[in-house]
Amino acid sequence: MSSILSIIYLIATVTFIVGLKKLGHPDSAKSGNLTAAGGMGLAIVGTIFIHDLQVPTIIYILIGIAILLGAIIGWFIAIKVEMTKMPELVSLFNGFGGASAALIGIVEFGNSDIKTTSATIVATILSAIVIGAITFSGSLMAWGKLNGSVKSIIKIPQYNIINNLVIIAIVLMAAFVVIENIDNQILLYSLLFAGLVYGVLFVMPIGGADMPVVISLLNSLTGIAAAITGILYDNMVMLVGGILVGSAGIILTVAMCKAMNRTLLSVIFGSFTASAGTEGTNKALGSIKSTTASDTAIIMNYATNVIIVPGYGLAVAQAQHVAHELEELLVAKGVNVKYAIHPVAGRMPGHMNVLLAESNVDYSMLVEMEDINPQFNNADVVLVVGANDVVNPAAHNDPSSPIYGMPILDVENAKHVVVNKRSMKAGYAGIENELFYNAKTSMLFGDAKSVLADLVSEIKNM
Ligand code: TAP
Repeated sequence: MSSILSIIYLIATVTFIVGLKKLGHPDSAKSGNLTAAGGMGLAIVGTIFIHDLQVPTIIYILIGIAILLGAIIGWFIAIKVEMTKMPELVSLFNGFGGASAALIGIVEFGNSDIKTTSATIVATILSAIVIGAITFSGSLMAWGKLNGSVKSIIKIPQYNIINNLVIIAIVLMAAFVVIENIDNQILLYSLLFAGLVYGVLFVMPIGGADMPVVISLLNSLTGIAAAITGILYDNMVMLVGGILVGSAGIILTVAMCKAMNRTLLSVIFGSFTASAGTEGTNKALGSIKSTTASDTAIIMNYATNVIIVPGYGLAVAQAQHVAHELEELLVAKGVNVKYAIHPVAGRMPGHMNVLLAESNVDYSMLVEMEDINPQFNNADVVLVVGANDVVNPAAHNDPSSPIYGMPILDVENAKHVVVNKRSMKAGYAGIENELFYNAKTSMLFGDAKSVLADLVSEIKNM
């Protein structure tokens, strides 16, 4: 490798690390993304043009067309995708990352003289194929579950036995090829096929609520697959980039599990056994109390401290801008307003932060769960907008609940709780919420965007 290319790779590696660091705060996240993307662009250009090989012009043309097509398709998808569909998109991207690693593995298997290649390199090639294939089919399965084209939880008879047999087959075939240095295409494609089958089996029994965790885990696998291909090509920037994606994915997976108070194993092997939400009153919990926008506007207008709890429904309704308008109006009237941010509110990590940043809410008003929980005691009004599971007291009170032990926002400690949602239907975990039946709670039914707009116009008229 020329020293210029080494320097380019070094610069790219530094931009990945700086970019990742900057992604840690909403203020710097956008520039962090651009910094890392710039570094990746530099590494790609350097790799294509700086080398000692004699490359025919047609190859450059083909690479150029592939990059252009990929860039155009990626650009349009990224512009069109709705924020709530982001996990699906990430899932697809993961899948393509895995597919690339598997294809590279197959090409390298064909290019190498397996009979004389060291066992380490053969094992590396096979790892790229297997991990890439698992990531590809697992991510497509996750994508299908998220967009509803695949049933949420699929149970097949003798699942554990089939699963174990596939793993054993993968290990035996790979070990045979590595130990015996066998250059056999049938074994190679059998390994690829077994990897694809395992990816499907891995995601099949996992419930929809756990899908973002699985996607983060698959994202981490994509990183590992990329790092392995980095080893194959002796390419430092691929190796470091893959390691960063792999470790960031694992950290995120663990953080999500922690926020839901579940172990990774319980996510992979267990699933929420949800009881559907009821419409109307619930015999065990009592009855609910409905309120109106004008009554809610009055108590908010005369409150000293108001906390807004955004959830998935705020994202669905795209009500972030009108939420910001409401908050500005209250602040102008001397009310102290904060947003309570639960780490797994919405459907992806940082969902609420990204959403509220879109509407230019001041970051200092977003308060994380640990810091806001002690403040609910002093809140006159808590306005829950499209959140459900993250404010469900069953997490504290009901050991039989699937979300028992998950840290939640302690909104019931406030003087008044107003919950906005469209019906009495359950949230993502599919369970009843006793908060709605609490004597302090009033239900303000309707689509979040129109309800918040009503609140804005009521308060403006006061
Ligand atoms: P959810 O528990 O999913 O509740 C959202 C509520 O919003 C629903 O009950 C729904 O009730 C309401 N809603 C939907 N559309 C609405 C609209 N247009 N206007 C007003 N309300 C609307 O949301 P959450 O409290 O944010 O909790 C997130 C859930 O996702 C948790 O279970 C969490 O564990 C899970 N999860 C999240 C993540 C990440 S990383 N964020 C990862 C894995 C799992 P109606 O249908 O009655 O309106």
